[in-house]
Amino acid sequence: AKRVGILTAGGDAPGLNAAIRGFGRAAIGEFGMELIGFRDGMRGLAENRFVTLDSSSLSGILTVGGTVLGTSRDKVHRMMVDGVEKDMTEKMAKVYEKNKLDALVTLGGGGTAKNALRLQKAGLNVVHLPKTIDNDIWGTDDSFGFATALEIATEAVDRLHSTAHSHHRIILVEIMGHRAGWLALGAGIAGGADIILIPEIPYTIEKVVEKIEQRKKQGKHFSVIAVAEGAMDIEYAQRVKIADQLIKDADSPETKALAKHNKDRLTDSHRESTFELARKLEAATGLESRVTILGYVQRGGTPVGADRLLATRLGTAGAAAVADGAGGIMIATKGGETTTVSLEKTAGRIKYVPKDHDWVKAAREVETGLGD
Ligand code: F6P
Repeated sequence: AKRVGILTAGGDAPGLNAAIRGFGRAAIGEFGMELIGFRDGMRGLAENRFVTLDSSSLSGILTVGGTVLGTSRDKVHRMMVDGVEKDMTEKMAKVYEKNKLDALVTLGGGGTAKNALRLQKAGLNVVHLPKTIDNDIWGTDDSFGFATALEIATEAVDRLHSTAHSHHRIILVEIMGHRAGWLALGAGIAGGADIILIPEIPYTIEKVVEKIEQRKKQGKHFSVIAVAEGAMDIEYAQRVKIADQLIKDADSPETKALAKHNKDRLTDSHRESTFELARKLEAATGLESRVTILGYVQRGGTPVGADRLLATRLGTAGAAAVADGAGGIMIATKGGETTTVSLEKTAGRIKYVPKDHDWVKAAREVETGLGD
């Protein structure tokens, strides 16, 4: 019988357990495989910490949030071990061999796809399942977690309207999505936000103020603004562009590392800006402004039906792929069907919201301000 290891890595997302169950049921029941689950993402693989999964351990987890295996954001080639950063690739390859594994299944987002590719290149056979509430994984239409987060964020935008209109306030609601704006855009449209700010469409404060003033003239003395974590004003967007160019132009690994470090610092120093933006809007419009950060509420709790369904489809398709001996791939969806994409292609790429995307057009059609 084939022996397979499975792990969940990166931020937790609703549907991870449904995917573990989907994969496990098919792997064990349909294909007669043996399955072990590594604890805490890549860290458990490095430390050879695992549990044996059987049909009873897969029972009762379909509806449970988070991941029963635990997770971490550890990077394969840069893992902190006793206070020192170490490349654990070889160690992981040894653990894989020691356990006589035929395949490793990784459930995670873009960062995990990069780790998965690294392990594939080190000789492991890796199949990746796309998970993220950000919906930013290149090469797949869907990723589990997003549908649930969309419901939660939409409800938040709905509910924030009460305080906004009762108190005649501006409420900025910060929604997850540090690189791509899918969640803020989707929840903003579905929740009827008046303005939506996403990283892909840099904003100017003038345009945001203009929209709020225009609403005031219509007798609406409040506005709800959906702000993606990674939303950028136009000047900051220029700086990011330059930082990206410097990374591209770097002619040695050292200058590249430095350029990347500088970009990270640029990004980190920008994180608090929803508060800054609120302060500026209050000064410019005379309307009291408040910020609500949704945070981890968006990732928590039971997955909605759409995520359970997707996770089960991707999980079972993953088991079939492993049974076929496939490796170096991500299971994906395209046009409503499950398909596969090579890890080589997806790793390191981000699925941004195209500026002419349907959702963007729809938002504009319903007179939502996009800050540009
Ligand atoms: O990857 C999903 C995500 O929700 C991002 O949008 C967000 O920036 C990140 O997780 C934060 O998660 P953590 O605090 O766990 O690193």
